[in-house]
Amino acid sequence: MDPLCQAAFAAREHAHAPFSHFKVGAALEGEDGRIHTGCNVENATYSLTLCAERVAVFKALSEGARGFRRIAIAADSPSPTPPCGSCRQILWEFCGDIEVILVNLEGRTESFRLQEIFPRPFDASYL
Ligand code: THU
Repeated sequence: MDPLCQAAFAAREHAHAPFSHFKVGAALEGEDGRIHTGCNVENATYSLTLCAERVAVFKALSEGARGFRRIAIAADSPSPTPPCGSCRQILWEFCGDIEVILVNLEGRTESFRLQEIFPRPFDASYL
């Protein structure tokens, strides 16, 4: 299996999902080859929950990383889980048109460029 998907599965093990019981892991590959991981972190005030993808992006940024190539997202769903709308917006802002790889526990994978699943994004070019 692609090491980036393996890293996403490893991150998923750290998910804090006592409310949904839906664990997600993400692994973001920098242009320098470093891998930044994240998992979903839920909160009793549900809306404060953070998705695995945004945790990975913000962890990477906060450590000084800039420029990303790919993100792998691992979850246990029959059809591999795609990023939510909020995560797509954040990925576009900081990663541009990166490759998005979805993988489920059976090892089924799908991959897209972000723009395929997030057409016509709003971004700073409009400001
Ligand atoms: N979740 C993610 O972490 N990433 C996704 O791509 C979809 C949803 C999380 C948020 C919440 O903790 C749980 O999955 C159920 O929505």
